[in-house]
Amino acid sequence: MNLKTGILFFLKSFIFAKNLIVARRKLEQFAENETFAHMFYKPYHELINGFSLKGKWNKVFFKNDHPITLELGCGKGEYTVGLARKYPDRNFIGIDLKGARMWQGASIVEQEGIKNVAFIRTKIDQLLHFFGNDEISEIWLTFSDPQPKHERRRLSSPRFLNLYRDILVPDGIIHQKTDNRELFDYTLEVINHFNFKLKFSTFDLYASEFKGDAVEIQTFYEKMFLKEGIAINYMQFCLNESFKNNEVLVLPQKDNK
Ligand SMILES: C[S@@+](CC[C@H](N)C(=O)[O-])C[C@H]1O[C@@H](n2cnc3c(N)ncnc32)[C@H](O)[C@@H]1O
Repeated sequence: MNLKTGILFFLKSFIFAKNLIVARRKLEQFAENETFAHMFYKPYHELINGFSLKGKWNKVFFKNDHPITLELGCGKGEYTVGLARKYPDRNFIGIDLKGARMWQGASIVEQEGIKNVAFIRTKIDQLLHFFGNDEISEIWLTFSDPQPKHERRRLSSPRFLNLYRDILVPDGIIHQKTDNRELFDYTLEVINHFNFKLKFSTFDLYASEFKGDAVEIQTFYEKMFLKEGIAINYMQFCLNESFKNNEVLVLPQKDNK
């Protein structure tokens, strides 16, 4: 073996060993997730037979009648945990596909004994299996994947807003925080198209006068974008009565440049 092949062999072995450690750690986190009473996962084939907490989160799980806020695409759950610490009289549920990311927030909740938090590992697309009508008071979309090529996968597309409409109380607030100006502009187009009420909007949160949760809590992705000097967009909006019967899943072409 010459020096070049030796170095290559060493590097490949190093990467292999590192991937093995990461994979093992993820398995440990998945196993630990299963021990948390506040972490929920149900495979689709079981979900279609019904989810026991649907419409009963407060009565059965939180055991109070406090308003429930969702963080969708919560990753490590910074908003879910941060808001739960700040507002003990409200309930918070973080939802994401990635169990290893949510483990970060879920293990903090376990260590600190926080009682007003749950996490669900699922596709947000399955939201209606988990919640009943008017069960949710607010939704946070924190640094959602921008999905430039797939409008239907954007968490602020009419397709997803149709789901939020069915579980949100009337006038329930949707917050969107993102580094991605294209996604933010797209949401503004959706709001404009359906004549939703835009309660607040800024293209540069930290240069704005805004004070409150949106500036007090920063997510993992947000911290990375801030380090790169990227401006953070933030808005709050509400759906409206006439959206009740909406069946449109994407914006008409003329609106969606
Ligand atoms: C860019 S990350 C942001 C994570 C976190 N909110 C943050 O700001 O650090 C987007 C997250 O959304 C999740 N996600 C995207 N689409 C999803 C879907 N349809 N269902 C569930 N999770 C989804 C991904 O797994 C990922 O963790």
